[in-house]
Amino acid sequence: MLNVSFAKQSLPRSGVLVVAVCQGKALSPKCKELDKATGGALKRAIDASGFDGDKSKVCTLLAPPGLDVSRVVLIGLGEDKKVDDLAAEDAGGHAVAALSGAGEETASIWFDLGRNVPLGEDAAAAEFAFGAQLRSYRFDKYRTREEKKDRPTLRKVAVMVEQPARARNLHMPLGKVAEGIFLTRDLVSEPPNILFPESFVKECRKLARLGIRIEVLDKRQMKKLGMGTLLGVAQGSARDPYMVVMQWNGAKAATAKPVAFVGKGVTFDTGGISIKPAGGMEDMKWDMGGAGVVTGLMKALAGRKAKANVVGVIGLVENMVSGTAQRPGDVVTSMSGQTVEVINTDAEGRLVLADALWYTQGRFKPQFMVNLATLTGAVIVALGEENAGLFSNNDELATRLEAAGRATGDHVWRLPLAKAYDDMLKSDIADMKNIGGRSAGSITAAQFLQRFVNEVPWAHLDIAGVTWSKKAKPTVPRGGTGFGVRLLDRLVRDHYEK
Ligand code: BES
Ligand code: MN
Ligand code: ZN
Repeated sequence: MLNVSFAKQSLPRSGVLVVAVCQGKALSPKCKELDKATGGALKRAIDASGFDGDKSKVCTLLAPPGLDVSRVVLIGLGEDKKVDDLAAEDAGGHAVAALSGAGEETASIWFDLGRNVPLGEDAAAAEFAFGAQLRSYRFDKYRTREEKKDRPTLRKVAVMVEQPARARNLHMPLGKVAEGIFLTRDLVSEPPNILFPESFVKECRKLARLGIRIEVLDKRQMKKLGMGTLLGVAQGSARDPYMVVMQWNGAKAATAKPVAFVGKGVTFDTGGISIKPAGGMEDMKWDMGGAGVVTGLMKALAGRKAKANVVGVIGLVENMVSGTAQRPGDVVTSMSGQTVEVINTDAEGRLVLADALWYTQGRFKPQFMVNLATLTGAVIVALGEENAGLFSNNDELATRLEAAGRATGDHVWRLPLAKAYDDMLKSDIADMKNIGGRSAGSITAAQFLQRFVNEVPWAHLDIAGVTWSKKAKPTVPRGGTGFGVRLLDRLVRDHYEK
């Protein structure tokens, strides 16, 4: 993780000096100061590049005369009245991207915010540092021959403000959330021969250090509990399935009802006997994305010592093809007692979640239950990479999730649930089929899940489109996004901490 520190403003003697400025024609006061120090070189660089402080725009002055730093980089925050948390984060992300390949090791950051910026300098600094950290993520443990010149060099960011202690305090919880997001990104990036149910359990156990209680249910225990839908998915794999229960008890009252998060953890999804086409099947290593978010979220919440009781439950299985694999036509019995006719073995995530949801609501009686799953290709068709699909039986919970999405940039879009969709799951011989028809695939999947949820406020996030990204965003490099960690951290922070 990029090392960030906060200090009083000074003129750095080495590395790069980054100045975050708002949009405008006139030179900002700090730019004026630097322009003077450089004998007018900064103004000439600005004029030559056409830089105007617009969002994401960058202007670089190399070897500035009169200064000891190797370069000055101006980074645009956009219109001053609109500089909010996310704009400051994005600027931090853009700064890191602009410096990649520059060979710099340390960056000092100045802010020139002016009067109209609604965000205080402390908050802007904390968010900028957070954004810089988020963008600096890289999964490179399996690169053994990368040339030095291709590796990122930036190690340290020194953020310079009037009140460094205040900025540092504001950044503290954000740094913990970044650590949670990095864990999620690591988990979804790991190849499926390395990350499988048992090795995933090992990663969860590491969280015990943070005060998270870890319990692991093995195959024998799950059998005893009657988790037949989850076990049916696992039966074709040489790897044993597990369910992990993580508990963070941070509420003042130890007995306060917990909130619960449940994740689909299919460490690889071949589709099973209803096998997937070869092209792109490697993507199914991140079919454990829901479980990855729950795990990263637990790390974030415990790291920042959230004042809430939180339960995270993940169902870990591998969906494989073999002589022991489940067949289309099999009927399995879930922990709830409901029977399912498995028409398509590739609709496996819902079978895993059916037992995980039932177990969680029965054991913990949570205030609410939110599950996350890379559940359907259909949600990618509907919403692309921009929004996760949101389904809920509770308007208040749905509204809160939508608001948390806007606040963090992890956007969600609500889709309907209704009896007519539920009817599409009727089976000739069992309580339900595991797929609907050709239409409304994401909704029928959600309807299936709802059959395993009782009165508890519940939301399902279909994150198939947002878990992995083919193009970078300001604070999200290509690859595993960590989508959902910030969203749910924010939900807890805004409504469930006392
Ligand atoms: N893991 C997939 C969904 C998925 C697809 C996630 C693409 C990420 C990217 C899920 O298990 C699946 O295979 N769903 C099927 C359901 C169908 C058989 C009803 C799908 O979406 O095709
Ligand atoms: Mn599948
Ligand atoms: Zn799947």
